[in-house]
Amino acid sequence: MTRRALISGITGQDGTYLAEHLVEEGYEVWGIVRGHDDTRAARLRHLVSDVRLIRGDLLDQTSLISAVDQVQPDEVYNLGAISFVPLSWQQSGITSEVTGLGVMRMLEAIRIVSGISASRTAQLGSQIRFYQASSSEMFGKVRETPQNEQTPFHPRSPYGVAKSYGHYTTQNYRESYGMYAVSGILFNHESPRRGPEFVTRKVSLGVARIKLGLSETLRLGNLDARRDWGYAGDYVKAMRQMMAQPVPSDFVVGTGIMSSVRTLVEHAFSHAGLDWRGHVVIDPSLVRPAEVDLLCADPKRARAQLGWEPVVSFEELVRMMVDADLAQLSGRSSPIDSPVAEHF
Ligand code: NAP
Ligand code: GDD
Repeated sequence: MTRRALISGITGQDGTYLAEHLVEEGYEVWGIVRGHDDTRAARLRHLVSDVRLIRGDLLDQTSLISAVDQVQPDEVYNLGAISFVPLSWQQSGITSEVTGLGVMRMLEAIRIVSGISASRTAQLGSQIRFYQASSSEMFGKVRETPQNEQTPFHPRSPYGVAKSYGHYTTQNYRESYGMYAVSGILFNHESPRRGPEFVTRKVSLGVARIKLGLSETLRLGNLDARRDWGYAGDYVKAMRQMMAQPVPSDFVVGTGIMSSVRTLVEHAFSHAGLDWRGHVVIDPSLVRPAEVDLLCADPKRARAQLGWEPVVSFEELVRMMVDADLAQLSGRSSPIDSPVAEHF
């Protein structure tokens, strides 16, 4: 029988790739979209036509109950969040509400629609499966390197704190109610569809602009930060694989290789035949109040149990993103989004 998936955050980077992947796998895909911005829904439809949309908001419990009740999904993927880390200091209240409490609201919607309570726990096999988009930001000021499923959390931003709440809440619903609820602890993953405020896309857009003579400089913050960067198209496959396990549990997903922001900049500029030193300006206002200095995954468990492997390397990813932005800004491909991120 056709499996039905419901995705929150379907208009975001991962939502579009996950929707594509699930459609290819034969799923009927539904997405929760907020009422405020139909251009985001239109962009999604342009990328993946075969999805059905339903209105809802992670701030609104009633809308989530209605969505789960109407769609009757086999699987729910909770990707919706305020996901840009610097914004979480400026808007910590709304970040806690959406990125943290939103997880609890989605789990409550499933619990209520499924008729599960503390005295009537879920029967495995006849229940809605739940995926939470947890984050390597939870490791924050890392206690060990590389980070695995057992590494303690030490979040460094209101975003990381909210994700840690969502992570523990997911675990708690699994343990309290017997629900099939899992968290993917995903390390940074990028693509040409990445929001223009995140550093990889900011760099690929900046390089394309400079190459095309539309700009002279690119303003950046901390070039010493190191991240484990992979390709979003690879990572959404791990989400589905996690949901197909007989026993629900959490997985770390990353490449196991880290690079600095400086290395990212060097690769991106040199791919376009440019020397970054003449163009990059360090802007202290872009340095964060508390930085996550490094993140590096230990993806052994995902490799062994899910058979998951990243396909696209960091270098290939950087080239793919620079090429896509060059094509977009020179009018050789249709725009993915409005490229305005200079001030983040
Ligand atoms: P993204 O591009 O920022 O997308 C975020 C999505 O959340 C958008 O679809 C947005 O919808 C939606 N959203 C925001 N507020 C909402 C609300 N109140 N109710 C419902 N939906 C709301 O993020 P992403 O990169 O695709 O990441 C997907 C998820 O994985 C996020 O939870 C993120 O925190 C997590 N994560 C990402 C990474 C990564 O490297 N990309 C790594 C680890 C974890 P609108 O279009 O309406 O704004
Ligand atoms: N955004 C941005 N802009 N980051 C910069 C800049 C800049 O101008 N200059 C240096 N950086 C550094 C940041 O200080 C950070 O150390 C690193 O680049 C990566 O920043 P982002 O691309 O904004 O991503 P992030 O690591 O903070 O968060 C992303 O990955 C998390 C998983 O680890 C987001 O996608 C989160 O939602 C996700 O959970």
